[in-house]
Amino acid sequence: MAKACVIGWPVEHSRSPLIHRYWLAEYGIDGTYDKEAVRPEDFVAFVGALAEHGYVGANVTLPHKEAALRLARSADEAAIAIGAVNTLWLDAEGRLHASNTDAYGFMTNLDAEAPQWNEGLGAAMVLGAGGAARAVLYGLIKATDAKIFVANRTRARAEALAHLFGPRVEVVDWGARNAAFGTCGLLINTTSLGMTGQAPLDIDLTALPQDAVVADIVYNPLLTPLLVAAAKRGNATVDGLGMLLHQAVPGFERWFGVRPEVTPALRAHVVASLSPEAA
Ligand code: ATR
Repeated sequence: MAKACVIGWPVEHSRSPLIHRYWLAEYGIDGTYDKEAVRPEDFVAFVGALAEHGYVGANVTLPHKEAALRLARSADEAAIAIGAVNTLWLDAEGRLHASNTDAYGFMTNLDAEAPQWNEGLGAAMVLGAGGAARAVLYGLIKATDAKIFVANRTRARAEALAHLFGPRVEVVDWGARNAAFGTCGLLINTTSLGMTGQAPLDIDLTALPQDAVVADIVYNPLLTPLLVAAAKRGNATVDGLGMLLHQAVPGFERWFGVRPEVTPALRAHVVASLSPEAA
């Protein structure tokens, strides 16, 4: 029997068990997927003893994503560029390997939900400059030749990302974000604004072209105020749940040997766990 888990602190809110247990049942695999609440000071020891705990691998969530990168024997290009890890696995010799599948999850979902997003794309706007923005930028840079604007409340963090990802990324003042939408065919919210319990994203979409795609990485609620406003004026929208589902695919395949599918039934299963207003 193969066992995997999600390691976090706290970990209770994680929806990864819902996804992986659904696939274990769907594909009739003899395996388990647990939640492991591990304090930051215990993380190194826990991961060092992953095999002794019976695990073939794990997902890693806050606050361990950077520490996991330091512990791995090898890390893929995405994990190194993003500076964080969300997927770990042990090889036959017990060596620890790491990947970041967030960019894969975001881009795969964008391609699936709005396949036209890159057609004649002049520029994209990324709102936010945290860990999620880093993953989105890494994915976008590889997938498009378009200019990428980054606007963040704390400008220095946006500048750090522009420095990291090079001249294709241009910083826009947080106060100037609305005015910069005119040439943007893609708008992505990577801030936590709009999430249940948080203020909505303060935004004016007037200058955004009608054919622009608007994506949010927030998935609770599924329809954030940003997505509601975008849909109302006719923009195509992509919600954050698809990214969450797709980022889980490579880990499941590593641990359990089957490449699982993201289906409407899986999506409905996870949607049922979201805030009531999400549906
Ligand atoms: P994550 O790793 O999930 O991206 P994070 O690193 O805490 O989380 O980043 C959260 C993002 O939401 C940041 O871009 C943050 O802006 P700052 O860098 O200025 O903190 C943004 N954010 C959070 N609350 C905000 C608010 N009230 N107004 C504007 N941006 C906000």
